Amino acid sequence: MDHDYYFYEPARGHGLPHDPFNAIIGPRPIGWISSRAADGVLNLAPYSFFNAFNYVPPIIGFSSQGRKDTLRNIEATGEFVWNLATRPLAEAMNLSCAPAPPEIDEFALAGLTPAQSSVIGTPRVAESPVAFECRATQIIPLQSASGAATGNWLVLGEVVGVHIARHLLKEGIYDTAGARPILRGGGPADYFEITPEQLFRMRRPDYPPDR
Ligand SMILES: Cc1cc2nc3c(=O)[nH]c(=O)nc-3n(C[C@H](O)[C@H](O)[C@H](O)COP(=O)(O)O)c2cc1C
Repeated sequence: MDHDYYFYEPARGHGLPHDPFNAIIGPRPIGWISSRAADGVLNLAPYSFFNAFNYVPPIIGFSSQGRKDTLRNIEATGEFVWNLATRPLAEAMNLSCAPAPPEIDEFALAGLTPAQSSVIGTPRVAESPVAFECRATQIIPLQSASGAATGNWLVLGEVVGVHIARHLLKEGIYDTAGARPILRGGGPADYFEITPEQLFRMRRPDYPPDR
């Protein structure tokens, strides 16, 4: 099939009413990250430049566009928690993105409860059904192809503790859609919710294909 393509070089501008980048790489899972400042003030914020990068040991990461409280806290303590953002928690997640000063605890701002973690000192969100306790592994300054600093940072962490609400384990199998995770689309306000109807299954092919 032949397509008529719109083409642009991002360094020269996209020439469209909205930058399509986020809408194309989407929907993205949300890194809802709790962290703790050196002085103990709690912090919570969503990061949709987020994903999993390694299986064994499990490593997840997110990118901070600029130097934000979450990044500073993780630099100071070496740890963070990822909390699953679900449809019932969407509005609280959104409240937690407020550009509040470092002394403001976004758990309180969003009406959420900090629950003590098991192996690290940073609390998780008690209302979230899944949380990963993480120890930072690498904090990498992102650079352009020409080697110029972007001022943005990739934070990676090893998952050292996993909390799963028992109702999401169906005969031991994690029920992704049952948690009703939300994901970020493009534009100023687009989100998607994962529901069971969207599931389809496809197994990896054998090689050579069995004809
Ligand atoms: C759904 C969502 C996704 C976001 N993703 C990112 C992201 O990937 N990187 C980033 O720097 N900011 C992102 N933000 C904005 C931050 O959440 C916001 O700047 C927040 O105030 C940072 O908090 P902190 O300073 O406490 O770390 C996102 C906001 C929302 C609502």
